[in-house]
Order: sequence, then structure tokens, then C-alpha cells
Amino acid sequence: MSSILDSKPNDLREGEVVIALPDHSDASVYFIGRIRTPWKTRKDCPKNARAARETGAVCTLELDPRFAAGLLDIERCSHLVVLYWMDKARRDLVVQVPGHLGKGRGTFALRSPVRPNPIAMSVVKLVKVDGTKLEVIALDCIDGTPLLDIKPYYASTDSIPDAMTGA
Ligand SMILES: C[S@@+](CC[C@H](N)C(=O)[O-])C[C@H]1O[C@@H](n2cnc3c(N)ncnc32)[C@H](O)[C@@H]1O
Repeated sequence: MSSILDSKPNDLREGEVVIALPDHSDASVYFIGRIRTPWKTRKDCPKNARAARETGAVCTLELDPRFAAGLLDIERCSHLVVLYWMDKARRDLVVQVPGHLGKGRGTFALRSPVRPNPIAMSVVKLVKVDGTKLEVIALDCIDGTPLLDIKPYYASTDSIPDAMTGA
């Protein structure tokens, strides 16, 4: 079975919609580090954070040492929200046809890495802090993926157990 991960960057599925992106960006970001994972290609990666959690694989957030002070008290957190930049994803699709759906769905109704700002997020378990290296479980990205941000996960605020996405 073919998948978008096997396709060349410009391959499109029937029903997918491409737009022209704006000719300038509105802001810039600082990559605060890199993520080290066991996965070298998109095809090798777990499909999402849950699948990643189930592998039990320990990944490492390697923070640029200039941001080291920002880790003060981080070990108090059992879980973190990690934001990362899906640097291999195209950015110009507004309707996508995921293999498992077989029909079009809007980019903003999907967790696909393909989006105008290819920002991904996962809630991870913090296993160990070693200087500017954080060992965590539940990341689904390629080794070397740029790290954008780290935040504490608050179960009391962030968890909505009866949330639904529908069919
Ligand atoms: C469906 S996305 C979900 C990402 C994140 N957990 C989220 O919900 O925002 C995960 C998939 O993105 C792909 N991927 C991983 N690293 C990538 C990268 N650096 N650039 C583009 N795609 C990537 C892999 O196919 C992986 O299975």
C-alpha cells in the first residue's frame, strides 16, 4: 500500500488541495535544540505520540546550552509538552487525503506534519535530566528534528478526558 511517506515531495493524492503560500513570513523562531530519536526516516517513525509511548523508546531533547537556565526546576515535572518543527514536511496543502481515511480532510482538522507552520506537539514523560539533555518517552519524529519549545504538562488544565474528534 502506498503512503504519503513513500511519495516524492511534489506527489499529490486525488482530492488534495495546494495553495500558494504568502510571499513573506510574519515572524521567525529560534530552534532551541535538536531532538535525538532512534528513527532515521519518516516511515520508521511511530505514527503519533501514543504509538511512540507504546514503543517505550527513550528520546533525548538536546537543548542549546545558551538556554540552560531555562531548565531550572524542570525535574519537578513528570510530563512535558514538547513542540517541534517538522522540517521535512511540505507546507502548502490545505486539504489532505490521509491513507487511513481515503478522503479529504482539512489540514487544521488533522495532526499531519504537513501544514503552513509545520509545528508538532507531543506530551512526553520526563525520564531523566542530565545537564542540557532531557530523556523523554513519546516522541514520533526523525532524529535531528529541530526543537521549538518545552512546557510543563498540567493534567488539571490540559486534560479533557471526554473530548471527542468524531468520525
Ligand atoms: C502525524 S505526525 C504527529 C506529530 C505530533 N505528535 C503532533 O500530533 O503534532 C508524526 C509523523 O510525522 C512524520 N515526521 C516525523 N519527523 C518529521 C520531520 N522532521 N519532518 C516531517 N515529518 C516528520 C512521521 O511520519 C511521523 O510518524
